[in-house]
Amino acid sequence: SHFETILLERKGRVGVITLNRPKALNALNAQLMGEVVAAVVDLEREPEIGAILITGSERAFAAGADIKEMAPKSYMDMYLDDWFAAWDRLASARKPTIAAVAGYALGGGCELAMLCDIILAADNAKFGQPEIKLGVIPGIGGSQRLTRAVGKAKAMDLCLTGRNMDAEEAERAGLVSRIVPAADLLTEAMATATTIAEMSLPIAMMAKESVNRSFETTLAEGVRFERRVFHSTFATADQKEGMAAFVDKRAPKFTNS
Ligand code: HXC
Repeated sequence: SHFETILLERKGRVGVITLNRPKALNALNAQLMGEVVAAVVDLEREPEIGAILITGSERAFAAGADIKEMAPKSYMDMYLDDWFAAWDRLASARKPTIAAVAGYALGGGCELAMLCDIILAADNAKFGQPEIKLGVIPGIGGSQRLTRAVGKAKAMDLCLTGRNMDAEEAERAGLVSRIVPAADLLTEAMATATTIAEMSLPIAMMAKESVNRSFETTLAEGVRFERRVFHSTFATADQKEGMAAFVDKRAPKFTNS
């Protein structure tokens, strides 16, 4: 591919983005951010792709925004460029996204994982928002998404002390969906991504959209939204196929229609 800081592969119906700045523990510089976003845009356009997996190395998912790149910036640099705003494109991805996290997911790395729909953690994963130790605060949604994921007490603890939490604590707190042995992380993440990618893509997109709605609205409005989307699933061929296959005791063959 034409990318330098990431690897982009298509494995069946799964698009795999591997952060690849090993010498900097996958620190998120502007080039890497641009490349991840461009890869996501590509994968979103490709009809054969049903899920997007983002991963790093065994030592680091990403050790944060690139501190060496950020250090000299002024307020006006950050404000006028709206530094980090490009990551919003990942939050608005419509296809399911999975972060497979081994090693450090700190600062922007933790925030990148939280921009994904599901976080799978290796048993050596470490999560944290250490920005305060650098004299800044989270800038890619960490103070908001971490609080929604783990609650106020733990989010405050992490954002104010800058300490890391290990995979066990992250799972107990609800940040990650599952912990797997580091050696099995990619296999497990691929299995999860493939399972999702083999569902009806439009239905998976609707399920994702409905879950995400719960972060944006009241319970009554969220349930109303879900009901409308649920009704609309009955306008799809995949609903007919999925239910017919159950009745016939066979596997469904979804056509994304
Ligand atoms: C730039 C980084 C980096 C980062 C590591 N490196 N993290 N470079 N930005 N965020 C580089 C190191 O400088 C070093 O380069 C190489 O990667 C290996 O790192 P070491 O520190 O030597 O490794 P180790 O001793 O194992 O420690 C690992 C670590 C530590 C605990 C993860 O690297 C660390 O604390 N990194 C910073 C974590 C952090 O503060 N992240 C939040 C960033 S702020 P050389 O050239 O020396 O070999 C952020 C804000 C986002 O994300 C929101 C907007 C404000």
